[in-house]
Amino acid sequence: MPRLLILIFFLCYWFGGKGNPTLQQSKLSLVPQPVEIKVQNGIFLLSGKTMISVPVGNNEIREVAKLFADELASVSGKKLEITSGETKQAIEFKLNTQANPVLGDEGYTLSVSKRNISISANKPAGLFYGAQTLLQMVPPVSTTAPIAIAAVQITDYPRFAWRGLMLDVSRHFFTKNEVKRYIDQMSKYKYNIFHWHLTDNQGWRIEIKGLPRLTEVGAWRVPRTGSFGAFAPPAEGEENTDGGFYTQDDIREIVKYAQDRFVTIVPEIDVPGHSLAFIASYPESSCTQRQYPVNAGFGTDADVVLCAGNEDNFKKLEIVFSEVASLFPCKYIHIGGDEADKAFWKKCPQCQERMKAENLKNEEELQSYFIKRVSKILAANGKKLIGWDEILEGGLADDATVMSWRGTEGGNTAAKTGHHVIMTPNQYCYLDHTQGENVIERYGILFCCFMRMREAYKFEPTEGVDNPSYVLGGQGNLWTEMVPNYRRAEYMTWPRALALAETLWSPKADRSWDEFVPRVEAQFPRFDQAEVNYATSIYDPDIAMVKVENDELKIVFTPEIKGLDIYYSFDCTFPDKFYPKYQDKPIDIPKGASEIWAISYRNGKPIGRLLVIRLDELKARMGK
Ligand code: ACM
Ligand code: ZN
Repeated sequence: MPRLLILIFFLCYWFGGKGNPTLQQSKLSLVPQPVEIKVQNGIFLLSGKTMISVPVGNNEIREVAKLFADELASVSGKKLEITSGETKQAIEFKLNTQANPVLGDEGYTLSVSKRNISISANKPAGLFYGAQTLLQMVPPVSTTAPIAIAAVQITDYPRFAWRGLMLDVSRHFFTKNEVKRYIDQMSKYKYNIFHWHLTDNQGWRIEIKGLPRLTEVGAWRVPRTGSFGAFAPPAEGEENTDGGFYTQDDIREIVKYAQDRFVTIVPEIDVPGHSLAFIASYPESSCTQRQYPVNAGFGTDADVVLCAGNEDNFKKLEIVFSEVASLFPCKYIHIGGDEADKAFWKKCPQCQERMKAENLKNEEELQSYFIKRVSKILAANGKKLIGWDEILEGGLADDATVMSWRGTEGGNTAAKTGHHVIMTPNQYCYLDHTQGENVIERYGILFCCFMRMREAYKFEPTEGVDNPSYVLGGQGNLWTEMVPNYRRAEYMTWPRALALAETLWSPKADRSWDEFVPRVEAQFPRFDQAEVNYATSIYDPDIAMVKVENDELKIVFTPEIKGLDIYYSFDCTFPDKFYPKYQDKPIDIPKGASEIWAISYRNGKPIGRLLVIRLDELKARMGK
């Protein structure tokens, strides 16, 4: 395309093709939505000659500008020079000489005029977030032509300080570069916490120099594929070829990479439950002291809980947590604490002796004793404890922060007693749940759990909390039992993590599902350009069989978003737009039909995926 034509194309892209150079605010498709957008007249023309201007002698700002320049180059093909000299027609990064109290540590103002673009903030983090907003104003198309950036004045800052995503690297291992890519992607949507679930029954993923067997043994298991939970146990003599771990050098590299993007890494070492990789490495650490293999995902009667009566376990945990503390600058360490099965503790003489000696009434108090001991180890290493809401059982450790996952009740209880809380209720925040019609998505965790993006967008971190000022924020969690590779990890994360990002950053009053959807769709070409895998499940309606009058069975579709036309067939043929169209009322099932096929269209073009479902499967779902 000639240059002039490309320029016209971009102008049309921004101005909605209306031939009217007044920017429609909705065309600024930003996620998360900024606090305040004032649309101005005009455009800034960004060309390859535009300079990026940073203050003299401030390396941190230069680093932010460099990341911006690199990203701009990959989005638009424009490689801009960074300068500290006087410039006109520049993109300027500057810190406020007097702090603007509205902006806090992470807020920014972004001003685009005909003459220049200026991002200012109190702290470098704010400049980084302003840069992410600006990048979302650049069309994701590589071009040599100038790019029109809409004139606008944005003032923006986050609603919550804790905006997290968790990645489980135990159930499946993800490489150092994959973890970096995950962090990079989340930082584009202003997430600032990466919760790294580093240990579980399926693998120990962090090198601990004082306990080398944790990775020599605990990081490896037999290879299995298919449906987690239905795997065959290891065959006689079978080798543990599947797994991996991060060396301490890898960890330092990833921590630095995250810091450059203003992401804090919260490491999780899950104890006393979920500890089979630890126990496989050091069999004396469980109550039964039996040798178990690291679990690939087969059913097992293994004792996966550390023995709370064994003093040597606390010595080992001192080694683990002191090394972890030295690797991660974050003031928190997450110690798990979830789903610790007390059955083995009940039968264990050492655990029972501990309970007697410490005057503990039951195994819940023994769990509390365990967590409090770990909390002391953390404190000795200058760190604070976070745990899943089970750490409330038997009494919460002083100063512990609770991550509420079994709904919000645990979080509310903790906040009432003056403990900080991070909300991550599974109904809205569990990214391992399937996100669309089950006939396509099939395998989420345990085949039980569904969470469409629309549901995620309903997440309200302070809902049901009497003491909301103790809520630090919230988090999406990606457990990876059914996430065997990195492409799948991306697919499960995006676009639902956009919904959570908006909840955690943007003002509550501005939340609107119908208005959010087009802004999400505007991210899809960005994901395509960056080769990020993402789900298009919003286009695929749910299908259900319902009973109407006279016990007659009919079919209903429930679309997730507005504006779709659903065409269907019962004769096992692909429904084009001349087939019957769903009219928002239950449809009759023709005699003899065994399957329904359906697909969504928008503006006459297929946009969804073909859904093919057996009617007996639909009927079987009715009882559930
Ligand atoms: C959890 O999902 N077990 C925290
Ligand atoms: Zn025990």
